[in-house]
Amino acid sequence: MQVYGLVGNPVGHSLSPPMHEAAYEELGVDARYVTFEPEPSALADAISGADALGIAGLNVTIPFKQDVLELVDPDPLAERIGAVNTVVFDDGAEDSTPKEDSTPKGYNTDAAGVTRAFERHGVELDGGDAVVVGAGGAGRAAAFALADAGASVHIANRTAEKAEELAGVVPGATGGGLDSLDRIRDASVLVNATSVGMEAPDETPVPAEYLHGDLAVLDAVYTPIETRLLREAADAGAVTIDGAWMLLLQGVEAFELWTGLDAPVEVMNDALRDHLTA
Ligand code: ATR
Repeated sequence: MQVYGLVGNPVGHSLSPPMHEAAYEELGVDARYVTFEPEPSALADAISGADALGIAGLNVTIPFKQDVLELVDPDPLAERIGAVNTVVFDDGAEDSTPKEDSTPKGYNTDAAGVTRAFERHGVELDGGDAVVVGAGGAGRAAAFALADAGASVHIANRTAEKAEELAGVVPGATGGGLDSLDRIRDASVLVNATSVGMEAPDETPVPAEYLHGDLAVLDAVYTPIETRLLREAADAGAVTIDGAWMLLLQGVEAFELWTGLDAPVEVMNDALRDHLTA
């Protein structure tokens, strides 16, 4: 049996176990997905302990996504984003490399979660104009993902300096404060990568007057599943994509990295949405 898991603190609310275990069941993969909550100071021990125990793969979440970068061999995208959310351990079974020499590989599947969510809704990113609100971990992943997919990216953040700093490393991007949100009027794609609206159905990061019918809006927030931003975007005639899509599709990408199988996306989506509304 293979063991996969999630390392974070806290992880009690995680929807990843039912989502991944539904996929194992569907495809007959002999595996379990469990959550681990190490003390923040124990991350390095947790990663080397997982490796020693033969754990096959880990997702990594708050507050460890940045710190884990130093403990793995990150792929170029994870390195550019500056965060790893998926670790693949080499079990050493099929080569002669001594186990001690095999550093776990690190990936950032949040970026693929963003692009796959738009693709899945028929939204063309190449040549589009995108606005990303937020410049934290989710904002960084979204900005790189959209730029790599061929969109021109503007990052708007409460702390303007953080947006400007991020824009300096994302190809072709610009950055500014929340006063630059009026760029949405001419945009084709909008991502909310802030926590605004989380557990707060009356809050939105974006004034409704900027929303319009030629826009596709992805909200990374998934509690509630229908945020005020998505409600107002739908009212304006925009394509709306809720945060469960991003959660699902980063998980799909991780599943595929770990198992080499095509993920049963619909089964994982059903499991996730069952647990979101439970
Ligand atoms: P995550 O990893 O989920 O992106 P984070 O790194 O803590 O979390 O980033 C949170 C983002 O939400 C930041 O862009 C933050 O803006 P600041 O950089 O100015 O802190 C943004 N954010 C949080 N609360 C906000 C609020 N009330 N209004 C606007 N932006 C907010």
